[in-house]
Amino acid sequence: MAELGSNSLVQADIASLLHPYTDARAHERNGPIVIERGKGIFVYDSNGTEYIEGLAGLWSVAVGFGEPRLVEAASRQMTKLSYYHTFSSKSHEPSIRLAEKLVELTPQNLTRVFFTSSGSEANDTVVKMVWYMNNALGRHQKKKFLARNKGYHGITVASGSLTGLPNNHRDFDLPAIAVRHLTCPHFYRFGQSGETEEEFSARLVAEAETVILEEGPETIAAFIGEPLMAAGGVMPPPKRYWQGIEALCRKYDILLVADEVINGFGRLGSSFGSVHYGFTPDIIVASKQLTSSYIPLAAIIFSEEIYNAIADNSAKIGTFGHGFTASGHPVATAVGLENLAIIEERDLVGNAARVGKVLQDKLLAFSDHPLVGEVRGAGLIAGIELVADKASRTPFSPIGRVGAAAFSAGHEHGLIVRAIGDTIALCPPLIITESEVDELVSRLEKVLDTTASRLGSLQLS
Ligand SMILES: Cc1ncc(COP(=O)(O)O)c(C=O)c1O
Repeated sequence: MAELGSNSLVQADIASLLHPYTDARAHERNGPIVIERGKGIFVYDSNGTEYIEGLAGLWSVAVGFGEPRLVEAASRQMTKLSYYHTFSSKSHEPSIRLAEKLVELTPQNLTRVFFTSSGSEANDTVVKMVWYMNNALGRHQKKKFLARNKGYHGITVASGSLTGLPNNHRDFDLPAIAVRHLTCPHFYRFGQSGETEEEFSARLVAEAETVILEEGPETIAAFIGEPLMAAGGVMPPPKRYWQGIEALCRKYDILLVADEVINGFGRLGSSFGSVHYGFTPDIIVASKQLTSSYIPLAAIIFSEEIYNAIADNSAKIGTFGHGFTASGHPVATAVGLENLAIIEERDLVGNAARVGKVLQDKLLAFSDHPLVGEVRGAGLIAGIELVADKASRTPFSPIGRVGAAAFSAGHEHGLIVRAIGDTIALCPPLIITESEVDELVSRLEKVLDTTASRLGSLQLS
């Protein structure tokens, strides 16, 4: 942490900046860590301290920090055409080429692309596209969404409503749209004793069907889910879960939306999370690794059926009355194209599979650590859930204090992680090498041991 009082940037931050996902009063006391520069999997703060960015920024910097090709792509595009929009039939090459590329990369049934600048805007757009489509088809009642507890879809009014985390709803008057949140498909926490993973999946699919029938299938428009749930605690789905949900969606004519904002472009060691788990969505939402977050960009890739309903309605009304000033910003889409080229040329999806296996195996060895209840993940994303009692899986009380201690210990040992309650999340850049994984794991071991040594001072009940 930067020295309070010794650094005018720190003082200016405290005086002027409200930080997302931060206790503002604690921040006034403690100040920020000011990150100054990054290279590869490392970032450096204003005191010169090095950290492994174990979360790739916000699950997003696929090609690592300081990649000159992305800087050059942005600079080239800035020089040639620094801004133009895509409203009222205007277009430009980077957005056309990236749309084409996304259609090529995603499953065959997805043929059309709409750009936004963030995952939240993309999910709000999905909600509005689905409503618009169902109005166009005369299905005026078919507007409700199904989502999951602990799912994360963003924080704008509609996407925040889809998110299933209490702190994103509390005192924000959300949910504000019609959405039913289903049981979180995390076997370790929500599986019943004696139940197999497949039986757990079958129970959750039956629960979803009960909700659909309760509400009336004619009122349910779409099911949205992250193939592997990330920001809610890194939870891979139980076996056969997605196959059951996909069949249900087909049975009741419900659109299946894969929110791949974190999963997409190789995170799990496959091109997309939906490909990894073997299901075919009607809509994929992508962002983050699309540009390695060097510049804001998100994309909705959707089916020809959805496109046709929207296109017909836009012809009837005279316009598709939706779009952002930066929908398909040329600098963002140029960076996206270059970033995807790097992912392809360096086989970073393959790297996530190969080096991801090494990471997962090494993390599994922590299962014997006294604090560790469950180690879970796929490819280059992992969660390590810390518990008070391993045998009974009893969480610490209050939840989050031990996670916060681990988060801070990470800073001391040069490792930036995310603490989600008491789960430590890891999601390093896709370029990470085996020897860098060794270093990450060795720092993580110190983090766990330091956290364990401090339990006594954490006022746990
Ligand atoms: C799965 C998922 N969807 C949507 C979002 C929201 O994206 P943004 O923060 O760009 O609005 C996130 C952000 O973490 C996410 O993980």
